[in-house]
Amino acid sequence: MDDAAPSLRSAARMAHIEPFEVMEIQTLARSLEGQGRDVIHLEIGEPDFRTPQPVVDAAKRALDTQPMFYTSALGLPALREAIAGFYRSRYGVEVPASRVIVTAGSSAALLLAFGVLLDPDDEVLLADPGYPCNRHFIRTLGAVPRAVPVGPESRYQLTAGLAREHWGPKTRMVMVASPANPTGTLVTPQEARGLAQLAREKGGTLLMDEIYHGLTYGIDAQTAAGEGEDVLVVNSFSKYFQMTGWRLGWLLAPAGLVRKIETLAQNLFISPSAVAQHAALACFTPETLAILERRRAELDERRRYLVPALESLGFKVPVVPQGAFYIYADCSAIAADSFTLARRILTEAHVAVTPGKDFGAHQPQRHLRIAYTQPVARLEEAVARIRKLLERS
Ligand SMILES: Cc1ncc(COP(=O)(O)O)c(C=O)c1O
Repeated sequence: MDDAAPSLRSAARMAHIEPFEVMEIQTLARSLEGQGRDVIHLEIGEPDFRTPQPVVDAAKRALDTQPMFYTSALGLPALREAIAGFYRSRYGVEVPASRVIVTAGSSAALLLAFGVLLDPDDEVLLADPGYPCNRHFIRTLGAVPRAVPVGPESRYQLTAGLAREHWGPKTRMVMVASPANPTGTLVTPQEARGLAQLAREKGGTLLMDEIYHGLTYGIDAQTAAGEGEDVLVVNSFSKYFQMTGWRLGWLLAPAGLVRKIETLAQNLFISPSAVAQHAALACFTPETLAILERRRAELDERRRYLVPALESLGFKVPVVPQGAFYIYADCSAIAADSFTLARRILTEAHVAVTPGKDFGAHQPQRHLRIAYTQPVARLEEAVARIRKLLERS
C-alpha cells in the first residue's frame, strides 16, 4: 500500500497477531530465485509429494457427476462415516460418525473448538515452542494463550505435571500436539491419559492436535480419542493425506457440543469445500493408503539421513523427532542468533530454513526448524552448502 494512503485503524487485538518469519524467509527465497539462484526449500510445512492420484481422480469424477452445492455444515455424511471407519480400522477406537465434524482444514477445526469453549479472558495452556497459529486463534477470540516453556527433558511436550503446575483459576483448556510442530515429538499414551484426567479434574478440556498422525517413524501414534468423549481431537487431510491446498480437516467433539459447533460452523463457514470432501472419500481406500505408506517410508529415510548430517555440522538434536517432517535443531554451538543464521544460510548457501522465532519466546534464538520436505539428494546438497558456509565463517 502507498505510504501516503490513509490507513484504517485496526482492532487492538492485532497488536498480538504476529506475522510468520517463515513468510519473510520465503519472500527472500523467491527474490533469490527471481535472480536465477537455486534455493533448496526446507522452510515450509508441506512435503514435495503431490496429492495421491486416486484422490485427484475422485475429485475429477465428482466434478462431472455431483452437484457442487454447499454440504451440511458438519460435512458429507459419507465422509463422516469414512472418518469414523478410519478410527475403527487404524486405531481400534469406536467414534460414532455423529461426533465427526468435517472442517476447512484443521485450522477451522481449531477455531471452532476454541470458539465454542472459550470466553474472553479464559486461558489456554500451550507448549512453547509450538505451532504459532494456536495462540493467534485464542487471541482473536479475546482469550489468553499461556505459553509453558518446554525443552528436551519433557521431549518438548507439555506434560500433565507441567500443566498442573501452570493451571490457574482462569485456565479452561490445555492443548497438545502429537507429533508436534516444530519438534516432531510425540506424547506417550500415558501422558495423554494424564492430561485428559487433569483436564477432567479441573473442569477444563484437553484439545489434542493429531494432524501429523500417520507421519510417525518406528512408532505408531495412538489417538487420544480413546481417552474419552470429552477429549477434543483435531486432525486433517493436509499432512498424511498430502492435501494441504484442498483445505480439509476434521474435529472429534463430545456429542453434547456437536450442535453448538454446527451452529458456529454454519455461521463462520457454511460448509467445508464440497469437491475436497468428495475427493477425500478416496483417502481411505487400500490403494491410497499404500501410496501414503510408501511416502511415509521415504520421509523416514530423509529423517534418518538428515538428523546425523545436521549433527555432523555442529547442530544438536537433543530429542530425535519421531514424527511430522521437522527437525528442531539447536544451533547455539554454531551461532549466537538463529535468526541471523537462517538469513545467512539463505542468502549465502541458498537453503531456506525457519528460525525458532516463529514458534514462541522460549529460547528461539537457539533453534532452527528444518523440514525434510525434499528428496535425500536435495538434502545432501543442502548439507554440503551449509557445510561450506560454516567452514568459511
Ligand atoms: C501443528 C499444526 N496444527 C494445525 C495446522 C493447520 O493445518 P491445516 O489447516 O492445513 O489442517 C498445522 C499446519 O502446519 C500444524 O503444523
